[in-house]
Amino acid sequence: MDRRTFNQKFSQGLVGFAFLETFIGQDLFAQKISPITNQWARELNTICQDLKTQEISQALWQQRVESLLQRISLTDLMKSIDFERVIRTMKYPDLGVTAKMVRFPRLSGVPARTVFAKKIFGMQKGRAIIPHGHQNMASAHLILRGDFDVKHYDKISENAQEMIIKPTILKVGKAGDATSISDEKDNVHWYQALTDKAYTFDVIVFNLNPQQGKSYDISNIDPDEGKNIGNGMIQVPKLTVAQGLKKYGKSHH
Ligand SMILES: [Fe+2]
Repeated sequence: MDRRTFNQKFSQGLVGFAFLETFIGQDLFAQKISPITNQWARELNTICQDLKTQEISQALWQQRVESLLQRISLTDLMKSIDFERVIRTMKYPDLGVTAKMVRFPRLSGVPARTVFAKKIFGMQKGRAIIPHGHQNMASAHLILRGDFDVKHYDKISENAQEMIIKPTILKVGKAGDATSISDEKDNVHWYQALTDKAYTFDVIVFNLNPQQGKSYDISNIDPDEGKNIGNGMIQVPKLTVAQGLKKYGKSHH
C-alpha cells in the first residue's frame, strides 16, 4: 500500500469510527433519558427564557434555578450530559480549573439551541474557580462530585481598580448543592475543591441586558487583601487573571 492509499484508508477509518461512535452513542444516550429528566430540562429551559425576556427578575431566577438543580437526580443528570465520557477527556491544570461545554441529548419540548449554555467544571484538590464577579450574566452551579469551599459575595459597587463586596454564602458544598450568581444577588463566587477530583455543572445565561453595551465582563478580585469598611462591607483590589490564578488558583497550605 502506498502512503496516499494508506492515508486515505486511515482517514476513512477514523471518520467511520467517529461517525459510528456518535451514532451509537446518541442512540443509546437518548434512550437513557427518563420522562422526569426531560420534563426537568423543559422547566430549566422555560425559566432561562423567562430570565432572558425579563419576565422574571434575576433574583427569582436564582431561587428557581437553585431549587431545580437541587431537585434532579444526579445520576440522571450525569447520564443526560454524558458526564463520565466528558471528564475522561479533561486535562486538569496545576493552577485553576478546566471546563467543557456539554449538551443535552435531543429532548422533546427543548430547542436544540437553548438560551443557556451548559458546562462542566473540573479541578484537582486545592484548585479553585478563583474569586471573581460578573457583569450582565447569570449562572448557577450544581456540585456533581466532590466537596467545595463555597463562598459568594454581593457586589455592592466597583470601579476599574476595586470592588466593594459583602459576604453572603460561606459553606462547605457537597454533591447535590447548588448556588447561583447574577447582577442582583451573590454576584461574586469562589469555589475551592476540597477533594480530588471535584466537578460542578453550570447553567449560564449571557447578555441579560442588551442595552448595557458591554455584553459581558469578569473581574477577578483579591479578598485576602480586603479592608473592612463597615456594615459588613469589604473593599477589595481587582486582579488580572494571571495574578488571580497565581494567588488563588491553587491552595498553598
Ligand atoms: Fe463565574
